[in-house]
Amino acid sequence: PVKQKLPPDIVALKGKQPIVCLTAYTAPIARLADQHCDLLLVGDSVGMVLHGLPTTLGVSIEMMILHGQAVMRTAKSALVVVDMPFGSYEESPQQAFRNAARILAETGAGAVKLEGGVHMRETIEFLTTRGVAVMAHVGLTPQAFNTLGGYRVQGRDEDAERVFNDAVATAEAGAFAVTLEKIPSELAKRITDAINVPTIGIGAGADCDGQVLVIDDIFGFFVDFRAKFVKRYAELGEDADRAIAQYAAEVRSRQFPGPEHSFGSTTKVSKK
Ligand code: KIV
Ligand code: NA
Repeated sequence: PVKQKLPPDIVALKGKQPIVCLTAYTAPIARLADQHCDLLLVGDSVGMVLHGLPTTLGVSIEMMILHGQAVMRTAKSALVVVDMPFGSYEESPQQAFRNAARILAETGAGAVKLEGGVHMRETIEFLTTRGVAVMAHVGLTPQAFNTLGGYRVQGRDEDAERVFNDAVATAEAGAFAVTLEKIPSELAKRITDAINVPTIGIGAGADCDGQVLVIDDIFGFFVDFRAKFVKRYAELGEDADRAIAQYAAEVRSRQFPGPEHSFGSTTKVSKK
């Protein structure tokens, strides 16, 4: 039986080998991704990717738990990290602990992730000293969509020190890894060199300790929007469209179902 990775196993990879992460939201995809990844993130991006929400702000703790449970049923070796959704941890360290404990208890995941730097320092320390492993997330923090004014690059020019201090604060507070989203590559390298836990980049260049992408993005499931930091490794959106179109055409032309997909009225002795 394979042993599922724990947060310290991820920390141990820093400086040794690049850490491979993808988001996963469902059991069948987690089964596939688990075989190739060190860490599977049940991201609150699930709200946008699978539920059609305009931002991650409408994601509930119940949604995160349902998707976390689905992923945990088939993830056998990768560490599973579940995002804490907007509104579930910002009020106080106590609120964060209560909801993190619920997520870990109901999903069996190994860690939670939350957004924020210096202002989350006390919360991260409160959680990590009480048995909750925390992955931090700084730079572009999508739950701050409204106050940041959209999804622009963070940490450019004079803003670099803010993002640097955020990352260092979360590492000092006990985070076992720090997600760096949409920041200049140079800044990501500075952070990676400065902290002793892994940085996991998304739109943060090649010098992070690991990389993460949204799995539907690498699949090419979306046709409408392309982020610069996404590399598409497939065009499944086009494939899916072709499959649906062909099915629709065959139903309309009565080509489907054929005899091989249909049942006769008498019981036959069959080898299958
Ligand atoms: O929700 C998410 O998918 C994330 C990653 C993209 C880092 O937070
Ligand atoms: Na997220």
